[in-house]
Amino acid sequence: MKVLVVGGAGYIGSHMVQTLLDAGHAPVTLDNLSSGHRDAVPGGEFILADLADRSALDAALAAQSFDAVMHFASFIQVGESVRRPDLYYRNNFAHTLNLMDAAVAAGVKRFIFSSTAAIFGEPVAVPINEGHPNAPINPYGASKAMVERALADYDRAFGLRSVCFRYFNAAGAHPRGHLGERHDPETHLIPLVLQAAAGLRPNIQVFGNDYPTPDGTCIRDYIHVMDLCASHLQGLEWLEQGKPSQAFNLGNGSGFSVLEVIRAAEEVTGRSVPVVHAPRRDGDPARLVADAALARDLLKWVPRYPRIEAIVADAWRFHQAHPASR
Ligand code: UFG
Repeated sequence: MKVLVVGGAGYIGSHMVQTLLDAGHAPVTLDNLSSGHRDAVPGGEFILADLADRSALDAALAAQSFDAVMHFASFIQVGESVRRPDLYYRNNFAHTLNLMDAAVAAGVKRFIFSSTAAIFGEPVAVPINEGHPNAPINPYGASKAMVERALADYDRAFGLRSVCFRYFNAAGAHPRGHLGERHDPETHLIPLVLQAAAGLRPNIQVFGNDYPTPDGTCIRDYIHVMDLCASHLQGLEWLEQGKPSQAFNLGNGSGFSVLEVIRAAEEVTGRSVPVVHAPRRDGDPARLVADAALARDLLKWVPRYPRIEAIVADAWRFHQAHPASR
């Protein structure tokens, strides 16, 4: 299939382009390179364009016939979204409407959207399944929830069928070592812990040790980026078979505390990681763990890299091969 991968120069998007190439599909990346990297796009055509530019989107979608659009391009920092809600509602919601409108105008019928566990807010029950209420507590989560709602309405009105994947904590890197996480600034736990292990930063700050968890630090469900990409291929197949729009939660179903992640990194790297305890970070729920039974049942999705050590090992391999990628 010919797939427009919006945000294909970013962390998850670049792994998706590789996954599509390996599966024999034809990905075309569209990215404005605001945070992505041109050299991260592993193949296929590349279009430099911004989601704010509706005419550029129309031109890209009119130039060739796409079987599907996959949308990975968004701002992702929860804390920043609280300080600058304007950026998050505009980029993650309004500009996504541009893409959806352009897809409808071009006659594209399938849309796969990167959503997030942040749409659930503070969980009322863990593990979190698709029946959990949407109650985002920050503009990042709200902007993604708004897109999910708009996609449901676009399906009813315009026949744009969609799959929304709510990622829990995306982590890891391509096992071949050529693709990985290169955010600037980096805010995510695993790459920061690995930078500390490599001596590129003096320590890792642990945000809060008084949460109601066994060791007092936050628990998250880390899911390998390759497992996320595999689910997208299955989502593509789901839509191709004419099945209805559906949202899926994606995680391994097991949670690891911040201190457990640090211990796993010490084990994988053979280095010690100095820990500094710091106050809680605003907007961090104590425990986010996915119930991904629906994806397992309906898509036959089975994570291939569920072990935290394997996730950290792949991230470490990428980090060592790209020491400048901070
Ligand atoms: N953490 C630290 N120190 C750090 C960085 C993170 O202790 O230097 C902690 C956080 O407080 C949190 C855990 O490590 O408890 C994981 O933090 P990340 O920043 O790696 O990931 P988040 O859980 O905050 O964010 C992830 C995605 C976001 C998404 C969010 C939804 O990366 O894009 O889940 O809840 F919005």
